Amino acid sequence: MNRLEGKSALITGAARGIGRAFAQAYLKEGATVAIADINIERARETAEELGERAYALAMDVTDQASIDTAITQVIATAGKLDILVNNAALFDLAPIVEISRESYDRLFAINVAGPLFTLQAAARQMIAQGHGGKIINMASQAGRRGEALVAVYCATKAAVISLTQSAGLDLIKHRINVNAIAPGVVDGEHWEGVDALFAHYEQRPLGEKKRLVGEAVPYGRMGTAEDLVGMALFLASSDSDFVVAQTYNVDGGNWMS
Ligand SMILES: NC(=O)c1ccc[n+]([C@@H]2O[C@H](COP(=O)([O-])OP(=O)(O)OC[C@H]3O[C@@H](n4cnc5c(N)ncnc54)[C@H](O)[C@@H]3O)[C@@H](O)[C@H]2O)c1
Repeated sequence: MNRLEGKSALITGAARGIGRAFAQAYLKEGATVAIADINIERARETAEELGERAYALAMDVTDQASIDTAITQVIATAGKLDILVNNAALFDLAPIVEISRESYDRLFAINVAGPLFTLQAAARQMIAQGHGGKIINMASQAGRRGEALVAVYCATKAAVISLTQSAGLDLIKHRINVNAIAPGVVDGEHWEGVDALFAHYEQRPLGEKKRLVGEAVPYGRMGTAEDLVGMALFLASSDSDFVVAQTYNVDGGNWMS
């Protein structure tokens, strides 16, 4: 259908997982896509696998100079920036009495300051271009309510939902739509790490937490990155022009809000 024909997209954390699946979908719809990741080797592999309109960018969303350079490189490569997906994030787990400052600082730097200042840099570019744009933040069902053991990650994702609302309301006058996706549990490399952390803190065998969370989804299984692609395409395309500051649950029925 080529819904994104001629568009230029930047996806953070796109070397693997959900960001990679979004990149593949955007490319299929005609966009040029920057595969931006702190893991540049993996980003290069992914860009090569995805084809000629995909290109790798080294980017650390916690570093302002790296954010600014990434935007400059997108303009140098694709001539403009139409779509940003703030997808890079980090997960951690600990009981309240064991949370470390280091983990807190790292998660807030990647999951909150990262999307905010990447969004800011992208918005400045989009405003200068004068044709609006689309910004999609990756939130989570974890942002809808707190969870024992997941305090810091939940707080970062609640912050993403709040920032989506504020930025969405501020930027719509420039015809920049800011919205978010809140996935539930999505199978992939990310969840291997999550499962291992739960196994440690809840004294479970490896794989058990993952099986249980999958069984608890009303749809009957864990999500896949591909399950999120329809929403990511909708929010990147002109179909969502009148959608402002929203966070959509795409989670097989886990959450209603
Ligand atoms: N997988 C799930 O169950 C799930 C559920 C809800 C929300 N989410 C959210 O969806 C998004 C993608 O999740 P995923 O499962 O694909 O994660 P993932 O861990 O597989 O991928 C994250 C990517 O971000 C990159 N990254 C990490 N730190 C970075 C930094 N400082 N700068 C740039 N890139 C960095 C990593 O190298 C990796 O390629 C995240 O925002 C995550 O919080 C995931």
